[in-house]
Amino acid sequence: MDIRIFNNTEEIAAAASEIIISKVKSCPDAILGLATGASPVATYKKLIAAYEAGVISFKDVKTFNLDEYCSIPATDKNSYYTFMHENLFNFIDVLEENVHVPNGNPENAEEYCAAYDESIKNAGGIDIQVLGIGRNGHIGFNEPSDAFTAGTYKVKLTESTIEANKIYFESENDVPREAITMGVQSITNAKEIILIAEGKAKAQAIHDMIKGEVSPSCPASILQKHNNVHIFIDKDAASLL
Ligand code: GLP
Repeated sequence: MDIRIFNNTEEIAAAASEIIISKVKSCPDAILGLATGASPVATYKKLIAAYEAGVISFKDVKTFNLDEYCSIPATDKNSYYTFMHENLFNFIDVLEENVHVPNGNPENAEEYCAAYDESIKNAGGIDIQVLGIGRNGHIGFNEPSDAFTAGTYKVKLTESTIEANKIYFESENDVPREAITMGVQSITNAKEIILIAEGKAKAQAIHDMIKGEVSPSCPASILQKHNNVHIFIDKDAASLL
């Protein structure tokens, strides 16, 4: 694991975006795996700046997002589809047809999820996967459990995740209880992974991910087994290491 501890958001975003920018430069049709949440926002800003400066183009890039809430439409202000457009896609030249955010309300979840994994595979697999981490060690929406998950699937969110996500919703009752998420296996199939985390609230999860045993009770701990992972964190998130 390439573990780097930075002073602030700006430094983390500079390091993370540098990896993505150099990938898109050398491979203009790169496949990017993207995450929502606060953690990658500053990195996305740097990607937008690089696009605006003419350093890179996303016109041949394909993107696949990790997850999406169930029970709200893609057009909802809190959907991950909306989040990605407001924080990245609307400001770069990626083609809408090359953007993939899971449908949170598929008619047949099982078939839909299998097809989502298939489309990642058919695209050639994810070159770089951006990840955040939940306070309980989740990646995507893979919550702590008894076994590592495989492909994309529909998941019930834990109370801890619902609690963490409620700041975005008017009331706790509005927070979706289920989501469609890439499974741990689909995430770790990525050729390269950049996990970003900041703040004391993430310190235990970061500790367990790096120092704990590889166990589905901390889904992110599986990254210890991946051969090309960057962990970019601030001092607070690193405080229990
Ligand atoms: C959500 C998302 C994850 C994200 C996590 C952390 O649960 N499903 O993909 O990594 O939140 O979010 P944040 O970066 O806002 O702390």
